[in-house]
Amino acid sequence: MAGKFDGRVAIVTAGGSGIGAATARRFAQEGASVVIADLSGKRAEEVTTGITASGGKAVCIKMNAADPEGVQATIQLALDTYGRLDIMFNNAGLAEMAPLDETSLESWNHVLAVTLTSTFLGMKYCLPIMRKQGKGAIVNTASISGKGGDYGLSSYNAAKAGVINLTRSAAIENAKHNIRINCVCPGAINTRAAQILGKERADEFRRLQAVAHPLGRMGEPEEIANTVLFLASDDASFITGVEITVDGGVTAHTGLPDMLRLQK
Ligand SMILES: NC(=O)c1ccc[n+]([C@@H]2O[C@H](COP(=O)([O-])OP(=O)(O)OC[C@H]3O[C@@H](n4cnc5c(N)ncnc54)[C@H](O)[C@@H]3O)[C@@H](O)[C@H]2O)c1
Repeated sequence: MAGKFDGRVAIVTAGGSGIGAATARRFAQEGASVVIADLSGKRAEEVTTGITASGGKAVCIKMNAADPEGVQATIQLALDTYGRLDIMFNNAGLAEMAPLDETSLESWNHVLAVTLTSTFLGMKYCLPIMRKQGKGAIVNTASISGKGGDYGLSSYNAAKAGVINLTRSAAIENAKHNIRINCVCPGAINTRAAQILGKERADEFRRLQAVAHPLGRMGEPEEIANTVLFLASDDASFITGVEITVDGGVTAHTGLPDMLRLQK
């Protein structure tokens, strides 16, 4: 059976775990050749081996998405191995938790670099290739944390808000080149990042998140992957410059208490 992405080449940054790994697997299942780029060479290799063992096409690279040389080497690997680049999924990002006044400049710079600068670099270096090819699709991972504030995550909130607006400016600049650029805003997703309170408190974190999400649970990485594949596909051919929120209803809620329950 033909896959939706047969003949296309996709790069996935932070592809060694969580949302990136799930998306790399889905791209490969749909026929894409995938470059899995991650700071952890070991994790990237494990995902790649899993894909190739089940008949998919994938290669991997250990890189830092905040480093221009790492991003350029990743794109070069896609071109050297597969001869083209159709899809760039700029997915790297991380949060460091502290109240704003206790956030060190070093931590601020690190979060901004891995979360926002990486997105800038990913787009900057793939655009000339996509323009030459006459077509391309870029998807950036933002977050609902780019649309509102979280306690203790001011640097992450600022960086993800930056990803959303950077997506818009990149989209309008590149629409004339037939390059579509969108972002996805996940709610809390069941990945390694769900261990922000420490491994031993992961269950408690999940329970609290389940209460915060009207659908009553955290999302799964595959549920974000499905949206990324949609945005990267020709099914989204008239969509550019948008953010799609995949959050189990969190941002639909004002934050006020459940009056219906209180009334009982
Ligand atoms: N999990 C969530 O609840 C959630 C919610 C909203 C947005 N996001 C965003 O989704 C993206 C992926 O998060 P996840 O939850 O899948 O995380 P994860 O912790 O499961 O995986 C992150 C991966 O990124 C890699 N990585 C870290 N720094 C890197 C760098 N500088 N260069 C390249 N790779 C690097 C890690 O090695 C790891 O394999 C991030 O941008 C994150 O901010 C996550």
